[in-house]
Amino acid sequence: MIILIEPLDLHLKTIKQQLIMKLTHSYVAKINQLLASYEIHYQNLRSLHWNIKGEKFFELHVKYEELYTRTQVIIDEIAERILTLNETPLSKFSDYLIHSIIAENDIISDGNRGIEYVFTAQKQLLIVEREILKLSETHQDEGSSALMSDLIREKEKTNWMFSSWLHQIE
Ligand SMILES: [Fe+2]
Repeated sequence: MIILIEPLDLHLKTIKQQLIMKLTHSYVAKINQLLASYEIHYQNLRSLHWNIKGEKFFELHVKYEELYTRTQVIIDEIAERILTLNETPLSKFSDYLIHSIIAENDIISDGNRGIEYVFTAQKQLLIVEREILKLSETHQDEGSSALMSDLIREKEKTNWMFSSWLHQIE
């Protein structure tokens, strides 16, 4: 009797483990999508920094640098979080282009258009971060949950600032 139950038990355990691994894989794929989106956003910010022209040059050249420097730190944190979850962060630009929800920009020299881009890109990033936050609760992944909360709070604040700069009512 015991001999019969043990293999069945083991079999169920294996199925359960495979299911958990599958769920984790698709969950981490969402975090990889966020990583890819930040990578494209980072390059868009560098382009804004290089190509800004006009009377707001000094103000925005510095602001874009501040933004891409912070984005670089965020990218590293997300990639290392993925590694902590025993998965592999995307690292090829060809993959970033496929998985990013943010598209590559053409050259933007106008200050208003540049800040409009940043405002919109941050709104897109917030959507993914809120999705991951919800999923992290289901997966009892407190580390990713805390990271998402920090990123969400930070971007909500800076988007209020960008919105004020653009005089938009959100
Ligand atoms: Fe520079």
